[in-house]
Amino acid sequence: MKKILICGAGGFIGGHLVSHFTKNTDFKIVCADIKPLNFWFQLNDQLKNYSCDLKDFDNALEVTQDVDYIYNFACNMGGMGFIENNKAECMLSVLVNTNLLRAAHQNKCKKYFFSSSACVYNASKQNDTFIKGLKESDAYPADPEDGYGWEKLFSERMCRHFMEDYGIEVRVARYHNIYGPYGTYDGGREKAPAALCRKVIKAKNNKDNKIEVWGDGKQTRTFLYIDDCIEGTLRLFESDYSDPVNIGSDEQVSINQMIEIIESISGTEKLERIYQLDKPKGVRGRSSNNDLVKKVLNWSFKTKLKDGLKKTYDWIYVETNKRGSNLGKYTKS
Ligand code: GDD
Repeated sequence: MKKILICGAGGFIGGHLVSHFTKNTDFKIVCADIKPLNFWFQLNDQLKNYSCDLKDFDNALEVTQDVDYIYNFACNMGGMGFIENNKAECMLSVLVNTNLLRAAHQNKCKKYFFSSSACVYNASKQNDTFIKGLKESDAYPADPEDGYGWEKLFSERMCRHFMEDYGIEVRVARYHNIYGPYGTYDGGREKAPAALCRKVIKAKNNKDNKIEVWGDGKQTRTFLYIDDCIEGTLRLFESDYSDPVNIGSDEQVSINQMIEIIESISGTEKLERIYQLDKPKGVRGRSSNNDLVKKVLNWSFKTKLKDGLKKTYDWIYVETNKRGSNLGKYTKS
């Protein structure tokens, strides 16, 4: 039986992948995450679960023992509020990926997946709202998001060189703002979909009729629902395509448009928007070009933003009304 290691298994995407594998597979699954087990979003206590820091090479060596395939989602990350204010912490994730690649080589692992990001793309191509989708080649000449984006771009290249020099098969996905249930919705690391669901729920519960929005709300993004992300990730892993590829939706919306969708899901009146221009905004416009992924993986997203947001909103609604929930509250790096 093949053995798969999922690093970052206590996080959002890693947790969903573990859940997928435990329902659908004959693989032996091993999980690792820096967080204490009680902070994992989806913990399966039937599996071997390591709570350890992969910035330490000895830990990387231990968790990769007898492993055939590795999925690496482990990194210090979050939405704009986190990555703009924690650049050194984000860049230190380079140690996780580097240690895992070295350990994979030493322990003779066969295939390695790296979760990269749309933050690798050249900033000058993202200065307008409603831009054309970013093609994979738009990562160069390099001018990625400061801190987090540089780490991702560097680690992409590290993967490539481990493949060229040591023969480890690598797969690299550039994720475009993945959202859905069992992810962070408060505490500072949350991305816009979860943050805005939470704010609309709070406004509704408190009947205060207004929400705070970072920036002027005209900035655009494409958001990919987690189930589509998992499907694209698996398809990429199984493919023979080893260069980085976008895993994203191309349903580009402004933050204001996304708020309108969330308002209609919540059944509230139009809320007054307090635009906070001094908050972290990131690039002005970002969208995924999906020509390559369609061609090489025959993959496309299926979940419309309004449908994915409904599932996300409903989950956050239940979570925020639960007492004593730890979800979304983990802030230690
Ligand atoms: N987080 C957040 N919270 N963002 C808000 C809010 C809010 O309450 N209100 C408005 N926004 C705006 C941000 O200012 C930004 O312009 C936009 O919504 C999107 O913010 P995020 O979802 O936090 O991040 P991002 O899309 O800029 O980048 C994220 O996705 C990348 C992949 O596409 C980050 O998670 C990156 O780490 C990731 O690589």
